[in-house]
Amino acid sequence: MSVDIAVAVEAEATTPLLEVRDLTIRYGKKGPAAVRGVSFTIARGETLGLVGESGSGKTTIGRAILGLVPVASGQILFEGRDITRAGLSGRRSLQGDLRAVFQDPFSSLNPRRVIGDALTEPLRVAKVPRADRDRRAREVLTAVGLPAGSADRYPRQFSGGQRQRIAIARALVTDPRLVVCDEAVSALDLSTQAQVLNLLADLRAGADLGYLFIAHDMAVVEFLAQRIIVLNRGEIVEAGPTSEIVYNPREHYTKVLMAASPVPDPDEQARRREAWQELKAQAPAAVG
Ligand SMILES: Nc1ncnc2c1ncn2[C@@H]1O[C@H](COP(=O)(O)OP(=O)(O)OP(=O)(O)O)[C@@H](O)[C@H]1O
Ligand SMILES: [Mg+2]
Repeated sequence: MSVDIAVAVEAEATTPLLEVRDLTIRYGKKGPAAVRGVSFTIARGETLGLVGESGSGKTTIGRAILGLVPVASGQILFEGRDITRAGLSGRRSLQGDLRAVFQDPFSSLNPRRVIGDALTEPLRVAKVPRADRDRRAREVLTAVGLPAGSADRYPRQFSGGQRQRIAIARALVTDPRLVVCDEAVSALDLSTQAQVLNLLADLRAGADLGYLFIAHDMAVVEFLAQRIIVLNRGEIVEAGPTSEIVYNPREHYTKVLMAASPVPDPDEQARRREAWQELKAQAPAAVG
């Protein structure tokens, strides 16, 4: 290998997929900072969990990465490229590599358009030829466990869990490098949640796909994330490997967060935890 190629390969291997540096975000020019001095990286193929109580700034960080909220100061780098203030064309060139799955896919699916259109739209924007678009849409529907015939049906003809699969299919149709998942499974019942989480884990396995995984429910984050960062009032209070944050947190805030039930009923919480332990024992390969 020539020295130049070796250097390039080395740089490619060490450049994080995403790097957030000293990020500060405020809503309104004079408003308080919703996010303050936040720094983290996501490696290629890595799942980073982002947790914190309601209002701590999780969604705000996700939205800043997606270019949906302006950054007051700091930097966001995607594969080494500064996208902090990427304009319309910069964002368009990113839209295949950087995708999102939100909590309520119904609100982001046009009720009057069939699923196939929703899936091929990002490919059309990326100027993929029509025949390839349709083939890719069918491929990705199969990958998320929906019949290929789903392409001709409307959003209302699917259940909540199926619509979440459609949202995941739409995120993955462009073969992205990073998907921001913001409470992507929070609205689903436990068994559907388990299916969709297993799906997310399976999909990243062969694809070198990274996730920023935002969720309230620690059991859910624990299942998918390799590392976790903990947010309190817009600032990172603790960060580390998933097992450390979940089973041996240093900060009181994190301890409280871990103990706090995302569901009000403690029995239900215990059942959830047990269900998750079982799920993890069944599918160790899916756990990072
Ligand atoms: N559009 C907005 N305009 C003004 N303030 C906002 C806006 N969106 C969020 N905020 C404020 O920014 C802070 C962070 O909110 P954010 O939605 O990022 O929290 P979160 O951690 O995602 O909470 P949750 O767990 O409830 O989804 C909060 O104080 C919130 O009130
Ligand atoms: Mg949120």
